[in-house]
Formats: sequence, structure tokens, C-alpha cells
Amino acid sequence: MPRVYVETYGCQMNVADTELILGLLGRDGYVPAEQPEGADVILVNTCAVRDHAERRVIGRVGELKRYKRPGDVLGVVGCMAQRLGTTLLESTPHVDLVVGPDGYRGLPELIAAARAGERTADVAFKGWEHYEDVDPARPGSGPSAFVTVQRGCDYRCTFCVVPMTRGPERSRKLEGVLREVEGLAANGVTEVTLLGQTVNSYHDGRFDFADLLRAVGGVAGVRRVRFTSPHPNDFSDRVIGAMAEVPAVCEHVHLPVQSGSSRVLRRMLRRYTREQYLDCVARLRRAVPGIALTTDIIVGFPGETEADFAETESLVREVGFDDAYTFKYSPRDGTAALKIRDHVPDGVAGERLERLIVTVRDVARRRNIRLVGSTHEVLVEKPARRGELLQTRTRTNKVVLLQGPAEWIGSYRMVRFTGTTGATFTATPVLAARELAVVG
Ligand code: SAH
Ligand code: F3S
Repeated sequence: MPRVYVETYGCQMNVADTELILGLLGRDGYVPAEQPEGADVILVNTCAVRDHAERRVIGRVGELKRYKRPGDVLGVVGCMAQRLGTTLLESTPHVDLVVGPDGYRGLPELIAAARAGERTADVAFKGWEHYEDVDPARPGSGPSAFVTVQRGCDYRCTFCVVPMTRGPERSRKLEGVLREVEGLAANGVTEVTLLGQTVNSYHDGRFDFADLLRAVGGVAGVRRVRFTSPHPNDFSDRVIGAMAEVPAVCEHVHLPVQSGSSRVLRRMLRRYTREQYLDCVARLRRAVPGIALTTDIIVGFPGETEADFAETESLVREVGFDDAYTFKYSPRDGTAALKIRDHVPDGVAGERLERLIVTVRDVARRRNIRLVGSTHEVLVEKPARRGELLQTRTRTNKVVLLQGPAEWIGSYRMVRFTGTTGATFTATPVLAARELAVVG
């Protein structure tokens, strides 16, 4: 049986897309390989959001070339494939095929053609494509699974290449999502993460994201529902109401802000002001007590002044984010931000990024220290990287290290936090009230 190795870069949707690709090729008899050595087909599933991500992939594709035996196929798929298309075939002679996120259905034929010596690129958008009939292969996924509910993006943030690489926004039918989640639950999955570029704008023509949360949260066996990433403008009262009312929906939202300055936000075409973002945060906190908030922030966007940056830092303190992914602005071909003058020198952006990271860590550490001594339900995920410990996660998405037997993996436990590094926690198991009653 032919073997396929897929290496995945970028966001969670790419992880889910790789599972889709493995499922699709599995129908054609391909088995997944853990290593590039000996694989008949090597695919690199790529990210195009920042230049740095693309450079890494180019380097890696150069390395993977050496595993290619005669007749083997090396392909680049995903957002960078979509962005560069045939240019990538021309610039990298060892690449046989280039396929964008809407073209995976054609992979078996394209691989067969590549075997026969043909080099092709498929970067056509298919605004209807959901791969609804494909069962994603989720090798060893354990208790947690990603479920893509929406593809593409109809926003046009001026820094962002995603609308150009993933095409127009489209939502899967609620029934299709539900069928998939029921299947997962029947196979022991208890935690589901719904994926979309602006996932809370989900609308299948009949049902919105509030309906989806209620439906998925109502599936027997599903104990935790997460979603990523929402857009602040798409948190309707209906959606926030569903979050508050559906017990399975976790108390954590990753809510990209990008900047704390309304002036910069306008140039980014984020479609909200600092005040509107803060209002969204207040509505979420009112509806879901104890909710944890994380975010994405870009520094050095064209025209960002020291005063703008100070507003970003003050927003981080005002919201009190539990964590943040911080990025230096990376100019992308074809995006509107390229036309904005007032480029921020790299040294200045780099220095702002360093200061921001310190602020984010400080804010997170203060919040986390206050949590020491509190009790939480954790899902035991896997052995921790160091020592005998297990890696677990709270509903608020905090990583907690716990001593316990490997048999606990996949189960839910009550624990009390005993300490924090500032980012992660240590904990000891405690008996839940119910168990205490039995013991007593
Ligand atoms: N809506 C998507 C965003 C995908 S990009 C989602 O959250 O699922 C993920 C993050 O990368 C963005 O939130 C942004 O902070 C960052 N990013 C996007 N384009 C960028 C660029 N040109 N330079 C730097 N960071 C960027
Ligand atoms: Fe990108 Fe903005 Fe869409 S960040 S993915 S254009 S919401």
C-alpha cells in the first residue's frame, strides 16, 4: 500500500485539513507515514500568513527533496500553495504538485499524474467545497477533535492574506456538522473544537452559530465545546446567550484584537473601535463569569506611532488577557496595507514586540497567581514533556501538570492548583463533591 507523509504548518484549520487529506487519500488505499523516509508521497501543508512562515517552508521543502526516490511525489498544499500557484512550480523544480485548500478532492488524480511525470497546480476556488462526504482521518486523536464548520473569510483586514488563500466564506450545513460530532462522540471523543476563520459568523442559510453551539453542546457524550477564532463583531446576543446557557461550552474565548488603537484598527479595517472591542469583552464577562480571554496582536502595522502602541499595551492591561499571540507586522503581497505609507522601521517594531511580550507575561502571571488554591475540572491530555507528569487542561484552557497514572489520559479529574510558573500550573487531585459523598 502506498504511504503518504504530511507535514503541517500554521493554524488549527491546517491540522484539520491534514486530517481531511489523510482521510481522502485513505479512500484510495494510502496509509499515513510517520516519517518522510520511505513515504511514496510527501506533502507539506503550508501557512502564508507571515513571510517567516513561508521561508521556513521553502527551506523545509528543500530538505525533504532528499527523501524523494524515483517515482515519489513531493507536493506543497495549503495557503502558500494557493498564494504562489504555478510560480512555486517554476521556482522549485523538485516540487511536483501545488494544491490550494479547495483542491484536495483532486489529490488522488494529481498524485497519479505526478507519478507519470506531470507537474500541476490547482488553485481554483470552489465556493461550495466542504468535503462533506470525506471522513477525516484522526490518528490517535484521543478525547479531543477539531471540526471545521466554516471555510474561507469575507472580511478584508488590510494586513491579511487569508481571504486570498482560502477564498469566500461558506458554512457547512448544521446537520452535517452534527452528524460528524455524533460520530466522534460514538468513538469516545468528549471535547470538540469548532473551526472557522470568523467562526461565530457561521450561518448555513437557516441556522446561526448560536443554533450550532446548542446543537453540538447537546450531543450525548460531548462534555466540552470550544471554538476558534471568533470575530468581535459577530458576537450577537444570541451567540453570547448560547455560550452562557449551554453547559458544555467552555469558559474561554480566543478573541483577536490586533491593536488597542482605534486609529490603527481603522487602517486595519477591523471594523470595530477600541471601545467596541472592550464592550464585547464586557458582554462576554457579564454572561460567562470567570471566562478566560486570549488574543492575537500585531505590532509595527504601517503608521503605528508610539502613542498607538501605548494604547495596545494599556488595552492588554485593561482587558487582563490570560495569554496573547504577538506578531510583528509582515507585509503580504496583494493586501491593501501595502499601500499605506509610514512604514515602521524593523528595529522599532522588534523593540515594541519585546516590550509587549513582557507586558503580556506580566498580566498573565498576575492573573494566574491569583488562581493558585482554586479548584478546577481538567481533561487529562497526554504525558507531559518532562518527568512523570501528565499534561491536563482546564475549561478555561489553562495547562496544568499533574502527577498520576497514564490510565488517567482521556479522563476528567477535579484538581486544586498548588503553584504556577506564571503560565502553567501544578496541581493535586481532589475528590469531587459527589465522590466525597460516596466516601463519607
Ligand atoms: N481570522 C483568522 C485569522 C488568521 S491569521 C483566525 O483567527 O482564525 C492569525 C493571526 O495572524 C491574526 O489574528 C493576526 O494577528 C496574525 N496575522 C495575520 N496577518 C498578519 C500579517 N500580515 N503580519 C503579522 N501578523 C499577521
Ligand atoms: Fe484575516 Fe481578518 Fe479574515 S484577520 S482571516 S481577513 S477576519
